[in-house]
Amino acid sequence: MYPLKVEQPYPRNQWWVAAYGNEVGRSLLMREMLGERVLLYRTEAGDAVALGAVCPHRAFPLELGRLVGDSVQCGYHGFTFGADGTCQRVPSQSGVPQKSALRRYPVIETGGLVWVWTGNAEAADQRMLPDLGAIGLGCADWAVEQHAPVTIAARYTLLIENLLDLSHVTFIHATTIPGGEQVASIPVKVEESEAAITVVRRGENLPANSLIRSQFPDQEGPVHQHFDAQYLSPALIRTRGAMSDALTGRTLGTQNYIHLITPVSPTLVRYFVNTARDFATDNPALGAMQIAMGARIQPEDIAAIEAIETVLQSGATLPTEISARVDNGALKVRRRLEAQIRKELCPS
Ligand code: FES
Ligand SMILES: [Fe+2]
Repeated sequence: MYPLKVEQPYPRNQWWVAAYGNEVGRSLLMREMLGERVLLYRTEAGDAVALGAVCPHRAFPLELGRLVGDSVQCGYHGFTFGADGTCQRVPSQSGVPQKSALRRYPVIETGGLVWVWTGNAEAADQRMLPDLGAIGLGCADWAVEQHAPVTIAARYTLLIENLLDLSHVTFIHATTIPGGEQVASIPVKVEESEAAITVVRRGENLPANSLIRSQFPDQEGPVHQHFDAQYLSPALIRTRGAMSDALTGRTLGTQNYIHLITPVSPTLVRYFVNTARDFATDNPALGAMQIAMGARIQPEDIAAIEAIETVLQSGATLPTEISARVDNGALKVRRRLEAQIRKELCPS
């Protein structure tokens, strides 16, 4: 499925963000992920649980049922399922039918996020979760803002490609990102490791614009600033990075934008953005500023990728795709993602 040359649109053996931790509580929440309906709630002990959200009796949506202790009772005929998915009770008879369990999804809650593994439960591999502490999530010495999640009418790969080519900042965000007009002309290089593919873009001797001055009020001289885009998994891309004083080399701080990407279906994606900084962590005005900026910037990206999705779904003949040097990172990510899906389809 464009732009990938594999049949399956997304890898299933993967941790994806289902919800922010504070969205999951003692009521039933349904989230659609990779074309599946997933039911989320917390046990009385506070552990997040993810189960199949469709009753195997007559397909009633279980989010319309209720919690009884740690169990879910279907709202239609009262079949009751434990937090491990097993059917515990059928009110109209003494035993329970065979094969009546709900699917149980492995869950990890970390960095303020509820991650759900959508592949075989036996293959769930905690090591496939990126190092969230390295980018500021779940760390006491970083300030983190969780921006409101949105659903975008586009395939998730369009969002990944949007984030990996930040030269779009100069055009799409010309009026909403201070200093954005320089980004496209800054040369890029791609760094590749097992854990990440990083498009490194280092702006040098940039004038301290209004955004820098609000973050570092004492900064008058020019700055060096990273505009990196780092692919850590199909579910997580980090952009931005470190800033330093251009005259002395003194570190000013790091501002990360953490993009959490969850396919809802082949042509819908749920998008959670977190911002994290390791400076002025006790200044809530900076957090409020990031949320307000996000509300102005994000619709510009959404409009662009939804417009591309409309073209792709129109059935129109597409021109032969051309790529520029700036696309090296995005092309490497395509190959890595295709390889991940192929490995899942044909494990050897
Ligand atoms: S549909 Fe759930 S118990 Fe009948
Ligand atoms: Fe953007």
